[in-house]
Amino acid sequence: MTDKTGDASFALAQSRRLDALLRREAETQGGQLPFDRFMELALYAPELGYYTGGARKFGPEGDFITAPLLSPLFGRTLARQCAQVLEVLAGGEILELGAGTGDLAVDLLEGLRAEAQLLERYLILEISPELRDRQRSRIAQRAPHLLEKVHWLDRLPPRFRGLILGNEVVDALPVHRFCIGEGGEVLEVFARPLPESWEDVLDQPISPGLEESVRALQAQGFVREPGYCSEIHLRFAPWMRALSESLAQGMILLIDYGYPRAAYYHPSRSQGTLLCHARHQAHENPYLYPGLQDISAQVDFSALADAGQSAGLYLAGFTTQAHFLLGCGLDENLGEALAAGADPNVLLGAKQLLLPTGMGERFQVIAFTRGLDPALTWRGFGLRDLRGRLGQGANRQMG
Ligand SMILES: C[S@@+](CC[C@H](N)C(=O)[O-])C[C@H]1O[C@@H](n2cnc3c(N)ncnc32)[C@H](O)[C@@H]1O
Repeated sequence: MTDKTGDASFALAQSRRLDALLRREAETQGGQLPFDRFMELALYAPELGYYTGGARKFGPEGDFITAPLLSPLFGRTLARQCAQVLEVLAGGEILELGAGTGDLAVDLLEGLRAEAQLLERYLILEISPELRDRQRSRIAQRAPHLLEKVHWLDRLPPRFRGLILGNEVVDALPVHRFCIGEGGEVLEVFARPLPESWEDVLDQPISPGLEESVRALQAQGFVREPGYCSEIHLRFAPWMRALSESLAQGMILLIDYGYPRAAYYHPSRSQGTLLCHARHQAHENPYLYPGLQDISAQVDFSALADAGQSAGLYLAGFTTQAHFLLGCGLDENLGEALAAGADPNVLLGAKQLLLPTGMGERFQVIAFTRGLDPALTWRGFGLRDLRGRLGQGANRQMG
């Protein structure tokens, strides 16, 4: 695919085409779209969405930076957790969901080599054709000798054995939005086109399960105040079911920004957690230039834990990114990198990954397993087990 990411007039024309598509779909649905559908098309409409079109997305010239781009130590350290899973399984594969630039794949593969681990294949499931191309070129540029191990998939494989990994993928799943009305009624947020833009509209819920799920939150003491608005992750359940059906034996490891439910639906977060990024500016307006900006929401890790367990998986760990990386031995990796003459800037990257004000506490790591001994202590979760913070339903024995 041609890189047209620097061409502003091309980008604006693409955004106008996407806007027209969104308006046509809104028209067929009575003049407005449930917010999750707007988000889905804005991010993933074929050839026009933010991830499926040509936007540059990652890195200094893109819109945001993720952990693999901050420091190769992220992947190198994660490799130690992967190595433990592969060791317990005596083999297996890694499947990375949404592999971004491909840098994490390279760092992980290099890290696994350092752990003398024999990995059979490294699979990538990437729904963006533009990113697939970027990943292939990046791996060919940074580590051509690794390319033969890497295979791209179109769908989840059956009977997978190994480790399924997703960094900042869950926050990119479309969310539904709701508000509590003045009379305590549950309202759904819809996107409605205006002549030049879009606006939020509150209306009777039409998305299956939305009202019941909000009422279930209220039964647990959350989101009761009139005027309280937030997101709800109704797509977690089918997504985790699909991952669970694919996993015959091994671990699913998901890393993202977010909170357990009590913090997610805290009274102080009464206007939700939607976050949009364009050119390293973060803001809360999802309707600016459809297709040219990222739209995401913080992850409710309790909802993710419930979805995984309801899909029959064992909740094997939950902790902060800082505790996870330190548990996996980031300090040793850092020492080795410095001793091997790495650029001292490597220290700055490590700090960003660990500091509470950086990614250390804003990012969380959750693991589910199937067919592995629940009594095993996994490297990343050995320092601090925070599963108790996930609340109701957590720690069911399954998998
Ligand atoms: C914020 S980016 C993170 C990229 C990369 N993991 C990183 O850390 O730099 C989100 C990625 O998830 C991918 N994605 C979104 N939904 C997905 C899904 N259902 N399955 C697989 N990948 C998905 C996007 O195409 C994109 O590559």
